[in-house]
Amino acid sequence: MRNNKLQKSVYVRTFGCQMNVRDSEVICGLLTTNNYELTSKPDEANIIIFNTCSVRQHAEDKVWSEIGRFKKRFIPKKGIVPLIGVVGCMAQNYKENIFERASNVDFVVGPSDIDKIPGIINKLVAHSSQLIDKDLLGLKIWETDGNIRPEEIYHTRFYEDKDHAYVVISEGCSNLCSYCVVPYVRGSLKNRNYKDILKEVGEAVDNGITRITLLGQNVNAYQYENVNFVKLVEFVESVKGLKEFSFITSHPKDTSLDLFQAMADLEKLKKYLHLPVQSGSDRILKLMNRGYTRDNYLDLIRNYRKIVKKGVLTTDIIVGFPSETEKDFQDTYNLVRDTEFNAAFIFKYSPRPHTAAERLTDDVPREEKERRHKIVLDLQKKISQNKAVCSK
Ligand code: 5AD
Ligand code: SF4
Repeated sequence: MRNNKLQKSVYVRTFGCQMNVRDSEVICGLLTTNNYELTSKPDEANIIIFNTCSVRQHAEDKVWSEIGRFKKRFIPKKGIVPLIGVVGCMAQNYKENIFERASNVDFVVGPSDIDKIPGIINKLVAHSSQLIDKDLLGLKIWETDGNIRPEEIYHTRFYEDKDHAYVVISEGCSNLCSYCVVPYVRGSLKNRNYKDILKEVGEAVDNGITRITLLGQNVNAYQYENVNFVKLVEFVESVKGLKEFSFITSHPKDTSLDLFQAMADLEKLKKYLHLPVQSGSDRILKLMNRGYTRDNYLDLIRNYRKIVKKGVLTTDIIVGFPSETEKDFQDTYNLVRDTEFNAAFIFKYSPRPHTAAERLTDDVPREEKERRHKIVLDLQKKISQNKAVCSK
């Protein structure tokens, strides 16, 4: 039975990266504009939205098990049968096949179609209010063919934090790193107009926001008309009322010394660089299609440290990529040991659908991936602790 009082109460659960955190805010902004209420209590919600991540198998497994848990939990314990939506990267990855694997899901919406969510929910709510048992409904809606998000979705002024906002500067990615599903689920790189970005930053500041994080899969590739990423950060620096800003994520092949100079010169721009290296082995970097060598990366870091005094540096690393030998792994280990990152996010390789690496044999055994993962993790823990002590 539907609970009429809370007919329009929505719970949004976010999985994955900051891009998804922002997408969930966008969805919440659109829903509140359409008179839906948000709730932090899933048990009281009429509509449950899972905003999902496909970047690694582990991330998807978590979502599948949560959807399964919700099925058991809600029917028929509380008497409320919520509508369930799967949105974001998994929606794009599995499309309508999600309904086969999770029969309790009512709607599926890909990242480029999130503007359609209120309309889809309206339709489902109108349909379901005439029926008593959700299992008799049979109405399932999926939208996964979108390409470009309408600019308006970024201007609902909905931010989770009082003083911090994520601002998307570009969608998708055109790099085609061989292990990465992102270009498939989020499409190729699309840059927002810098005037729209600055308008959104201005609106956020008018709403009390003082800190901004600029978001993109590869911010350094930003280019709109004659404005590149360095120019964009100079524009953002000049927004009155903004106190501090940063950006993620950078790609080594597109990161320029000009950017480091801007980081050194601009007062509001945080001296923080997240620069995923992924591997310390040239052979593996090539197989990953990363577009730089170990030496290119180390050169870049040397310049960063020279130009941006006291700059913080973090990275991402994948261990157990197909054909990674002990020697390749040692190259990664040595790079981590010598570079002394402030923090490193270390992942075990998992094959992703639609990627080039999926065609390579996933031949590093699970136990070996775990061993390598633990070795780099332990090393990085020690480095991070040392750095934290030294900077006190
Ligand atoms: N397997 C393991 N880690 C991956 N990443 C991306 N794709 C995969 C994959 N197939 C990691 C990369 C990336 C981070 C967001 O996730 O390190 O930088
Ligand atoms: Fe994926 Fe590479 Fe694009 Fe990052 S830069 S999102 S790892 S394809």
